[in-house]
Amino acid sequence: MAGGAGSGHHETVMRDEVVELLARVRSGVIVDGTLGMGGHSEALLDATPEAVRLFGLDRDPGAVESSRARLARFGARVRLFHRGYEELPDVLAGEGVDGVAGVVLDLGLSGVQLASDRGFSFSVDAPPDMRFDPTSGPTAADLIRRMPERELADALRTYGELPGSARLARRLKDAARHNRMNTTAEFAAACVEVLGQRVRKMPGPTLPAQALRILVNRELDRLDAFLGALPAVLASGGRAVVISFHSLEDRRVKRSFRDLARGGGFAALTRKPDRPGEDEVDRNRRARSARLRAVERVEGSGTGTGMEGAGTGTDTGAGMSGAER
Ligand SMILES: C[S@@+](CC[C@H](N)C(=O)[O-])C[C@H]1O[C@@H](n2cnc3c(N)ncnc32)[C@H](O)[C@@H]1O
Repeated sequence: MAGGAGSGHHETVMRDEVVELLARVRSGVIVDGTLGMGGHSEALLDATPEAVRLFGLDRDPGAVESSRARLARFGARVRLFHRGYEELPDVLAGEGVDGVAGVVLDLGLSGVQLASDRGFSFSVDAPPDMRFDPTSGPTAADLIRRMPERELADALRTYGELPGSARLARRLKDAARHNRMNTTAEFAAACVEVLGQRVRKMPGPTLPAQALRILVNRELDRLDAFLGALPAVLASGGRAVVISFHSLEDRRVKRSFRDLARGGGFAALTRKPDRPGEDEVDRNRRARSARLRAVERVEGSGTGTGMEGAGTGTDTGAGMSGAER
């Protein structure tokens, strides 16, 4: 299956915190921009009334299909799209929706993708692909082959914050030239040769793998595009919640939310990032590096009113009941 689910499992990160921030929505649309296995979507649909609809987006068609099955019981409340969250303004325009009451992003990759045979992890030998969307764009192996060595080194340094990036880029290019960059085992061997065994001990996706994944999926560009579009998609009173897993992402979210708040019309709901509780980290190691930030479009600000189907009958537009605010 394109974007096949594999045998992995995905434990939803900071589910309760996301629900607490968004469950007060009484009508209108909530967007889950990183549907994954549908964990946040399911919790949000369970926590909100029938009048709330959920749009779920994922670049991975396998994730969309898995979520479709999981969310089937919610019927017409759910619309799923094989689209990127950076395309949200387009998706909303296509659906005739002016502004949303809530949006959540849970960045990075799912446990299912990590365990799949799509080259995301050193521990599963597979072709180095790493595309969230296996139907488009170059794979990690393509990029290693095609990119000039210096550009590859820059990307490894920027996205992996790795010392030894120039040597690693040279080693990867050399392997690709000799047709020895066809499996994650070959990629891992090159990383270990240059960076030492410590690279294997890195928790979660190793830094070189993370750097390549960010490069392949243009993750930071997409995040920037999403953050830039927030004022256009959040209805008055609407909230955006972003969970990030490394500082390159979190820095962007922090800066963007701060700038929105300074510009007026938005209020940051998290001065410091919210972190998962100890219990959650004990249960799920992947949660360890999660940082959650949230921002709210102040009631009555901007033009993001006229929620499609919100049925509020007021000009607040965000679809939140006055009683709950
Ligand atoms: C951590 S998982 C989400 C897990 C989900 N919250 C759950 O609880 O099941 C992140 C998901 O984001 C998807 N993704 C990555 N970049 C994306 C983008 N630009 N637009 C939409 N989805 C994206 C990945 O394919 C992956 O399925």
